Amino acid sequence: MSTQIKDAKIPENAPKTLLMEKHAEYIKAYEEKKEDYEYVMTEYLRVSGVYWGLTAMSLMKRLEAMNQKEVLEFVLACQHPNGGFSACQNHDAHLLYTLSSIQILALFDRLDDIDRDKTSSFIAGLQQEDGSFFGDKWGEVDSRFSFCAIAALRLLDRMEAINVEKAVDFVVRCMNFDGGFGCTPGSESHAGQIYCCVGVLSITHSMHHINPDLLCWWLCERQLPSGGLNGRPEKLPDVCYSWWVLASLKMLGRIDWIDKDKLSNFILASQDDETGGISDRPGDMVDPFHTLFGLAGLSLLGYDKTTIAEVDPVFCMPADVIKRIGIRNSYCA
Ligand code: FPP
Repeated sequence: MSTQIKDAKIPENAPKTLLMEKHAEYIKAYEEKKEDYEYVMTEYLRVSGVYWGLTAMSLMKRLEAMNQKEVLEFVLACQHPNGGFSACQNHDAHLLYTLSSIQILALFDRLDDIDRDKTSSFIAGLQQEDGSFFGDKWGEVDSRFSFCAIAALRLLDRMEAINVEKAVDFVVRCMNFDGGFGCTPGSESHAGQIYCCVGVLSITHSMHHINPDLLCWWLCERQLPSGGLNGRPEKLPDVCYSWWVLASLKMLGRIDWIDKDKLSNFILASQDDETGGISDRPGDMVDPFHTLFGLAGLSLLGYDKTTIAEVDPVFCMPADVIKRIGIRNSYCA
């Protein structure tokens, strides 16, 4: 008896080319329609939403179409006296939103608008004795937060604020027998956590801890017959995994281990040709999160290099921004 593979169906009439103009209009309209139900209901992640939209526009080479002044005022209003940032005013400061805020400031080349030492000390204050990080003062530990802390400190050029050796030790303890990584030591491998842990090891030049062949075998097995990638065995494909899986394969030097044409077809089929934007899989509702990760995935695949800018696989930001800051990640051969 064989197990049925869970997968998405690509309709015959699904889009086959990139609808760039429509995506730019979709993101711009999302920024402007602040009364929309969807916009109001996503207040709890607002600053990350702004980062997704701005990065999508940057990859489409349209950043100048966004309201820089309004965005910067909003981001600075989300900063707390302790140096951390929250998703929105009147929410708690958290590492997730601190990273998104720093990424936005970096996109606009405005990192000097904040006190780097103060923000670094907020991040350092969340590091625990075992090297892990709390996301915020409420004490949840997750390897995602290790990535947020280290990526943010690297962008701020303040890595010395934390114990890097212990941070790496914790991430290495999240590694499993299959070569993947989970959210804490002993938890199952998950492509999102793999991206975060490989990202930490890339930024800290500690890639030697990884067995790239073993890990990339697990990662390339995420591709389903539809061409889409899932995040764990037995899950449906989702466009955001075009980022988490593909960026990891890129850092590990094995992006050719998946079928690139089938994956780009899956991403293109997940576009909405009426509203613009990209969804998790063909036929679903679009949102800025999947629009960014679809475009970033296409960038990694080298799809239409003249229209999509090169993305940095570690920071999920335009590669020229990371170069301008002077960051050099390490990759596997
Ligand atoms: C899947 O989550 C994704 C992850 C666990 C990785 C999240 C990574 C960050 C927040 C770091 C910052 C990211 C960037 C791009 C700079 P999920 O809860 O959707 O997983 P599920 O598909 O299993 O539900």
